[in-house]
Amino acid sequence: MSPVSVSPDLVKNTSPLVAGVWSTTSQAFDVHNPFTGELLTQVHSASGLDARDALSAAHAISPSWGHTAPEQRSALLSTLHQLTLENSERLARIITLENGKPLTEARAEVEYAAGYLSWFAHEALRIPGDARRAPGGHRQLVFHEPVGPSLLITPWNFPLAMATRKVAPAFAAGNVVLIKPSSATPLTILAWAELVIAALDSLDLPRSIVSILPSDNAAALSTALLSDARLRKLSFTGSTSVGAKLLAQAAPIVARTSMELGGNAPFIVHDDADLDAAVTGAMAAKMRASGQTCVAANRFYVHHEVAHEFMRKLAIALDSLTAGDPLIEGTTLGPLINANEAQRIESLVSQALHTGDAHLFYERSLNPNLPASFSPPRILSRVKHHASIVTDEIFGPVIPVMTYTDINECITQANDTPYGLVAYAYTNSQSIAWRLVDGLEAGMVAINRGVISDPTAPFGGIKSSGLGREGGHEGIMDYLTTKYVAWQ
Ligand code: SIN
Repeated sequence: MSPVSVSPDLVKNTSPLVAGVWSTTSQAFDVHNPFTGELLTQVHSASGLDARDALSAAHAISPSWGHTAPEQRSALLSTLHQLTLENSERLARIITLENGKPLTEARAEVEYAAGYLSWFAHEALRIPGDARRAPGGHRQLVFHEPVGPSLLITPWNFPLAMATRKVAPAFAAGNVVLIKPSSATPLTILAWAELVIAALDSLDLPRSIVSILPSDNAAALSTALLSDARLRKLSFTGSTSVGAKLLAQAAPIVARTSMELGGNAPFIVHDDADLDAAVTGAMAAKMRASGQTCVAANRFYVHHEVAHEFMRKLAIALDSLTAGDPLIEGTTLGPLINANEAQRIESLVSQALHTGDAHLFYERSLNPNLPASFSPPRILSRVKHHASIVTDEIFGPVIPVMTYTDINECITQANDTPYGLVAYAYTNSQSIAWRLVDGLEAGMVAINRGVISDPTAPFGGIKSSGLGREGGHEGIMDYLTTKYVAWQ
């Protein structure tokens, strides 16, 4: 094995956790630091057999785990919430090491992740039901029961928060979980799994309700699991193309699915908006994780009267970012997940500039000694609505700006995409705000806010952006099935 640069104090176990037991396999894959490019460590890959073993154990424990008292499941999540916060600094360092986001953002992610644990600790106690008289006079009882063994596939951009967003409602509802983390960032969840085991042991709950299945061969795992009807739920966060394949794969076993897929968020700035507030919102909506979020503002529609001033102010805000080593306090712009991603964005921008689909309004100059995984923040002006830089999900720090005159034309253009995750808008007019809320095709709309993600609210999209909701009261319902009892 090559020398590694992540210490066992940070991540003790680098192998799969199969039904609560750490197991070692012969196959291993590399995990790299996106800033230095160094090998962090090797992680043992879960095999198809490990996945089947995890599912067999999940199937066996599901009936009893599903019948635990809600207050026990709530206690598990509260304990995990506390342990997550107590280990915040360690988890944040691991996130930064394997994902590259600056430490301040990694700390914010841990807090965000813990928010799901705390919210669903309470939701476990509020699972709804109903009792009523049928029109014919007999009784009708409606219960909500755990859906069953759940496969949770999580992405690299929020290695902890996207896991707790799925695990917390799954546990709250009484389900057993099999987690498949991204092969780019498996270490955070392997470290967090130690806390899950500690929380389970402290409450005398069965370890076998959790499996972690790291692998660089996701297809082998999903083939093994999605062909087995004992699996009852699939939740995935990632690209629309992979989500669509997983949906097809899950169809024969008719598994419940939640899909949190791609986005192409419009960010609208009307002529009556507070431009300083809009710039602050744009920085939050665009620059978090260097633009690598599915809720990142992807297309900017700015009223022509204020477009130049908005871009000027935005350029000043981008100038104030400090690019560098994400482990150093004060860094506010880290690398992308790898150099290939930076290269992909470079091609997208060059194509737009060379074809005349866009003009370069601003480019943040970066220290040439920074690694190739950095991508410079840029503002593009006079962008054509059908340019790839507008229709593709950029997933990086590029801001294409289009102008509009009429708000209805703007809404039509904002909706002209297969995606429908989130839309942002800045205006000081109530009537324009309502027109936007009513007219925008998106699962989430943010008015005068650049941050929409919140454990207490239903996160999710429409159209090609996905199915189901995570967070809020709605989040737990995706992990429950309805049983209706007719009683004479
Ligand atoms: C994502 O990028 O997939 C989620 C971002 C968020 O929860 O804010």
